[in-house]
Amino acid sequence: MAIREIVKEGDDCLRKVCRPVDKFDKRLAVLLDDMAQTMYEGNGVGLAAPQVGVLRRVVVIDCGEKLYELINPQIISQAGALDEAEGCLSSPGEYALVRRPEKVAVKAQDRHGKEFVLEGDHLLARAICHECDHLDGRLFKDIAIRMLHQDEDGNWK
Ligand code: NI
Repeated sequence: MAIREIVKEGDDCLRKVCRPVDKFDKRLAVLLDDMAQTMYEGNGVGLAAPQVGVLRRVVVIDCGEKLYELINPQIISQAGALDEAEGCLSSPGEYALVRRPEKVAVKAQDRHGKEFVLEGDHLLARAICHECDHLDGRLFKDIAIRMLHQDEDGNWK
């Protein structure tokens, strides 16, 4: 496993529509392992392949309970709405208030190509939406209600 460099906002990679994965091979496994390590190293809860310069529909997420690997993810249902703070490893130190569904279900494939459905709520739902957006070149700031700012006591407002 290796830590990869995270592409920062402003790089063209983050604005592309990524291509589906069609080969579930060793190369994909290495990418997934590297993405997970890179996400943990950055203390993120999710990372999408374009954030490491790979324009494929691959996402890793870990909100503290379990590592999820989503290949070719498609959100198939959503419910509710929550306005909460959100950040991105490609925009270090920046946070915004973003409205996301409270619950989502996403259909995806695992690293072997097997299809599954993952249901998530709250932070997991938020992470799924945020990372799926990356695969279409969309960033959290594009859809933010407003940016958040830190006051002198360090609280985000
Ligand atoms: Ni992000």
